[in-house]
Amino acid sequence: MKKVWTESAPANIALIKYMGKIPGQGNRPTNASLSYTLEHLRSYVQLEAIDGEVDQWQALPAIDGKHLVTLELSEKSKQRFLQHLTSVRQGMSASTQAFLVRSGNDFPSDCGLASSASSFAALTKAAVRAICELREIKLPSIHTLSELSRQGSGSSCRSFFSPWSVWRDDGAREVPELSHLTNLHHMVVVVEEEKKFVSSSEAHRRVTSSLLFNGRVDRAEFRLRELLQALQLGDWSTATEVTWAEFWDMHALFETSRPSFGYMTARSIEVLRMVRAELWRNGLGPLVTMDAGANIHLLFNDDSLGRDSFASAQRMFATNDLRVIVSTM
Ligand code: PMV
Repeated sequence: MKKVWTESAPANIALIKYMGKIPGQGNRPTNASLSYTLEHLRSYVQLEAIDGEVDQWQALPAIDGKHLVTLELSEKSKQRFLQHLTSVRQGMSASTQAFLVRSGNDFPSDCGLASSASSFAALTKAAVRAICELREIKLPSIHTLSELSRQGSGSSCRSFFSPWSVWRDDGAREVPELSHLTNLHHMVVVVEEEKKFVSSSEAHRRVTSSLLFNGRVDRAEFRLRELLQALQLGDWSTATEVTWAEFWDMHALFETSRPSFGYMTARSIEVLRMVRAELWRNGLGPLVTMDAGANIHLLFNDDSLGRDSFASAQRMFATNDLRVIVSTM
């Protein structure tokens, strides 16, 4: 029987955003970022050794009897994914053994979550394990795995650590001072299901043309310190303010780039206004963030106030005919 290596990795949502890369250094961020790991939203990757020297890709429809969302990758995305396998192999000076790569996600691709973080992390884990077993060598550390993954997709390097991950110049790490803050409940308000017209790679390039990019690194670093302290002290209200300002900062960079672009729609703004007016009333509402897309991500604390707020949000969005995707609870 043919040997198959299967691995999975979770998605993550950044509260301090990675936006902007240091030119010519692969996916090296201009500023540090902080994310919460979404353990319930996972990508699965299977590798099977095949004859020949050319890797192949197929959608993975199910894993252990569980259905996955059938992926339809464009030719460009397929090539980018397989190119990462080639880079991992080269990075480990491994033979040119070809693999059939199958991949799938257990979450919809229209929920505003880039599946590139979870899928590149899962591919890195599967590729490294396969290569190490075939070469009978020891598995590298999780930090090495994360660094290898970063070269394929920047934000994927954070998916190796949980429940929180911080990515600085020297790579991503767990955040021991926030290890108590777990079981946050994640909700996405889906206002837009179309594919984005400016990719995040292009966004990383363009934001540096904005005059607001001056000072961006300092603002992100300042907010990172503020947010870490607020979360550590249980100061949820400050955490909501910092997180809110941070995603607006990133979206302002998009809008003030030359040429400018943007992802927010009228509906996104409407939802943001609703969240601020209705859910933040006691300073106990969710952390709010948006990625390079129009959908709104909410993270609720796992205490009785957080659960109440979660229930109010569900009622409010249902009344307003807004579709939500809930990944826990
Ligand atoms: O990893 P990339 O190149 O897809 O960049 C992701 C960037 C954001 O999702 C917008 C922010 C982040 O930190 O995840």
